[in-house]
Amino acid sequence: MSHTHHLVGKKCTLCDRKFGFDEQELTCPHCGELGILDVEYDYDYVRPLFHTWRNGSERRDLFRFAPLLPLRLDGPKPQTLIGPTPLVHATRLGKHVGLPNLWVKDDGRLPTASFKDRASAVAVARAKELGIGLIAAASTGNAAASLAGLCAPEGITAVIFVPKAAPPAKIAQLLTFGAKVFLVDGTYDDAFALSLKAAERFGWYLRSTAINPLLAEGKKTGVLEALEQLGYGAPPDFVFVSVGDGCIISGLAKGLADLHALGVIPYLPRLVGVQAVTSSVIYEAWKSGGETITPVPPTTRADSISVAFPRDAVKALRGVRATGGLMVTVEDEAIFEAGRLLGTYAGVFAEPAAACAFAGVLALKAAGTLAPHHRCLVFSTGSGLKDVAGASMAAGQATLVRGLDDLEALFPQA
Ligand SMILES: Cc1ncc(COP(=O)(O)O)c(C=O)c1O
Ligand SMILES: [Zn+2]
Repeated sequence: MSHTHHLVGKKCTLCDRKFGFDEQELTCPHCGELGILDVEYDYDYVRPLFHTWRNGSERRDLFRFAPLLPLRLDGPKPQTLIGPTPLVHATRLGKHVGLPNLWVKDDGRLPTASFKDRASAVAVARAKELGIGLIAAASTGNAAASLAGLCAPEGITAVIFVPKAAPPAKIAQLLTFGAKVFLVDGTYDDAFALSLKAAERFGWYLRSTAINPLLAEGKKTGVLEALEQLGYGAPPDFVFVSVGDGCIISGLAKGLADLHALGVIPYLPRLVGVQAVTSSVIYEAWKSGGETITPVPPTTRADSISVAFPRDAVKALRGVRATGGLMVTVEDEAIFEAGRLLGTYAGVFAEPAAACAFAGVLALKAAGTLAPHHRCLVFSTGSGLKDVAGASMAAGQATLVRGLDDLEALFPQA
């Protein structure tokens, strides 16, 4: 018999209706597509299992956190190993910005080079449990590339909808992984809408961000793993992450809540969600003190967090508030500067959407919210190789030389 005693079921975030774990795959039928479900665990059952599984599991990837994942404990898992990724104590960068206790979790080093592999791992495992041979997804690019990469070795077909302006590296990744790729003539929000219609019309399993409640559960492993690396007894004071749809930060909030409820960590770190000024719908709702979402067309150059209508806003807002955290916005120029600093002082190559999180650190340091004694953990959620044009805008131009004469002119004393 399959082992699901750790799972209680799923609860709608809007109307609180409860569903059995296998009962309702995606959103709440009473609340429609915004009725995002949240997976609930039996913490009393999980408590004695958590450390035993973590330490005893043959797999060192995120499935060592199986008692906190929405899957059968004994079910099939994807072949691809997801994590652990390095947690870099960024001493040189920390010294430069006046924060000696600064750690960067470099999730650009996951198999398809973005944090989204954590969510795709769970989606693919679930598809294997259900015997599903096709998964569809809308994405700004990374979630799709991740899904396609993890589906490839399983022989599962990935059907992908991305905005036509997605960076070429992400599209090349998708095609190389053999996905069926549709470039939608419009924005990410248009791609998302089309994926919903297509999934309904053709009966496809959807891995789209937020709408599938299992994905946040995969994303929470980012924080389960980072705090494990730091030592569960000494969590950071602040955890920074970039925010678009709000799904990653919701996942991190869930992971922190799980660890706290289990008594694994002594206190909750404050979660800080960082958005680009020109794609800041969740920030605006946070500032208003409510949960009302007012869509605004985005213009930021950080494509992965360019979202008009964030799908996971309610969960994100509640997650941030539950930790006593905050939202902050940064200009694109500050994102580029953050990318330069991450590279120059920590050797971390982040795409603009990922560097945005560190721009939030700089903003809160400048505002005086962060003091030198604060322990800060920053997620870098995507590799700079994902968007080379974006990285080049941050890094500037290299110097052209024709030979030694040019170099001698540049180094006259040598
Ligand atoms: C690199 C990167 N960072 C941050 C995000 C933001 O995640 P979310 O849309 O779940 O808020 C994304 C999402 O595409 C991403 O690809
Ligand atoms: Zn509902």
